Amino acid sequence: MNRPLILAPSLLASDFARLGEETRAADAAGGDWMHLDVMDGHFVPNITFGPDLVKAIRTFSKKPFDVHLMIAPADPYLEAFAKAGADVITVHAEAGPHVHRSLQTIRALGKKAGIAINPGTPAQAVEPLLGMVDLVLLMTVNPGFGGQSFIRDVCDKIRTVRQMIGGADIDLEVDGGITAETAPLAVNAGANVLVAGSAFFKGGPNAYAANGEAIRNAAAMARGELV
Ligand code: DX5
Ligand code: ZN
Repeated sequence: MNRPLILAPSLLASDFARLGEETRAADAAGGDWMHLDVMDGHFVPNITFGPDLVKAIRTFSKKPFDVHLMIAPADPYLEAFAKAGADVITVHAEAGPHVHRSLQTIRALGKKAGIAINPGTPAQAVEPLLGMVDLVLLMTVNPGFGGQSFIRDVCDKIRTVRQMIGGADIDLEVDGGITAETAPLAVNAGANVLVAGSAFFKGGPNAYAANGEAIRNAAAMARGELV
C-alpha cells in the first residue's frame, strides 16, 4: 500500500528577512511539513540557523517541523532542537561514528528520528538502522545549497531503500532538485515525502500554492492517483 504523499517546502529557499511570514505562507499554500535545513559550515560548506530560530518560527505553523541536521557533531544539539519544537529530527549517517546513539537520543526525546545519506553513500548504510527510524532521507543533491539539479542516479538507491523498508512504518524522503519534472521520478522509485525549496518558493508568496500544486499533482499522477 502506498504511504501518503507529503510535500515539505524547504524554508532554505524562502526570504530569510521574513521567515515567520514565509512559514505561515508555506503552510497556507498547502505545505504538509515545514522542512528546516540546519547547516554548520563544517559538515557542509554553508551555514544557516540553529534551534533559536526554529523556536522563533514555531508559532507560525502547526504543521510538523521536519528538521534536517547537516551538522557534525549532532548529539550536543538534539535536545535543543527537540525543545525548540522539532517533530522529526534527521541526522546524517556520515556525520559521526555513533549515529545509532543519535537516533536513540532523538527517540528518547520523544521525537521522530530520521537518517539521511548523501548521494555518494550506499543504501546499505541505512539498513542496520531501520529499526531505529521513522524516516529515511535520501539526498538527491550534495547537501549545502538549494537550487541544484536532481541527481538521477539516486533513483536506483531510492528503489533499493524502498525494498529494504518493505511494510515497516517508515517514510522515504527525497531532498534536492525536486520539481514537477523530477518528482515523478522520485515517486516512481518509491519516495513518499518530497522536499522542495526553489521549486516551491519561486515567484513569491502569490505563486506558492500553484508551485506546490504542480509538484503534488505530478507526483500524484505518477502514483496513479486521480488529481
Ligand atoms: C540542501 C537542503 C535542501 C534544499 C533543497 O542541502 O537539504 O533541503 O533546501 O533545495 P532545492 O529544492 O532548491 O534543491
Ligand atoms: Zn534538507
